[in-house]
Amino acid sequence: MGRRPNMAEVVAAEPALSNQILEVEGLCAHHGQLLALDGVSFTVGEGSVFAVIGANGAGKSTLMRSIAGLHRPSEGRVIFDGTDITRLSTPQRVELGISLVPEGRRLFASLSVEENLLTGTYIRRSGHWTIERVYEMFPWMWQRKNQRSSLLSGGEQQTVAISRALLANPRLLLIDELSLGLAPIVVRSIYGSLSKIMEGGLTVLIVEQDVNQALSVAAKFQCMLEGRTTLSGKPAEFTPEEIEAAYFGLNSTSSIHGKD
Ligand SMILES: Nc1ncnc2c1ncn2[C@@H]1O[C@H](COP(=O)(O)OP(=O)(O)OP(=O)(O)O)[C@@H](O)[C@H]1O
Ligand SMILES: [Mg+2]
Repeated sequence: MGRRPNMAEVVAAEPALSNQILEVEGLCAHHGQLLALDGVSFTVGEGSVFAVIGANGAGKSTLMRSIAGLHRPSEGRVIFDGTDITRLSTPQRVELGISLVPEGRRLFASLSVEENLLTGTYIRRSGHWTIERVYEMFPWMWQRKNQRSSLLSGGEQQTVAISRALLANPRLLLIDELSLGLAPIVVRSIYGSLSKIMEGGLTVLIVEQDVNQALSVAAKFQCMLEGRTTLSGKPAEFTPEEIEAAYFGLNSTSSIHGKD
């Protein structure tokens, strides 16, 4: 509705005829008896940002972990650049070019910044990203490379976690909860770095609890609730009320206004 795209959107915009680097088809996944993903389908265009939003327990992390090979789906397929990877192990997926920044960053607290970065180099593709290039991009990391990662701020830890994933030289980077617990200025700075990083053609699939942030950077998004997709498309196609209704599982916009 007349809103001008910001820089990040320009970078994230999906070209009309882009290659669909990721296709998720009818994915179902369980935790024991619980159906955490119930027939989730979507596609992600190469070089774009795709956002997954949804309330706590919607199945977002289960989805990311299923794409990364850390959770075995019970039904459906994950296709990466035309290859069915549903049965491949996580290391095989890393070799093909899929890296995950897990929820909560999961750095090794007792290891130094550099040791944490090195864990991202055990299985890697050849490509742009080396430790030196990471230090060029984030000079503060070089200055603090011998410090324990537990001494870093939340934003610094997230930047190390993203850098660790980049060192595998992925084509598809999965980021589970980029901005959780971070100050808005830190979040802006990380998104700024991400749009620079994406200039090399990287595709980013992001789980984001800050809905406005997610919708301002994503070419496409999907909203999940209790394992199902409740809304999907381009952010500009929906009103905030429609997105809110999908997020909370409300059937009509009038019921939103009926809430206090
Ligand atoms: N290891 C597990 N064992 C049992 N149930 C689980 C496990 N992990 C997740 N679940 C359940 O599966 C459902 C989906 O969880 P998931 O972590 O994928 O959601 P999410 O959207 O990432 O939530 P959040 O926003 O809190 O991170 C939830 O009902 C959750 O309680
Ligand atoms: Mg989660």
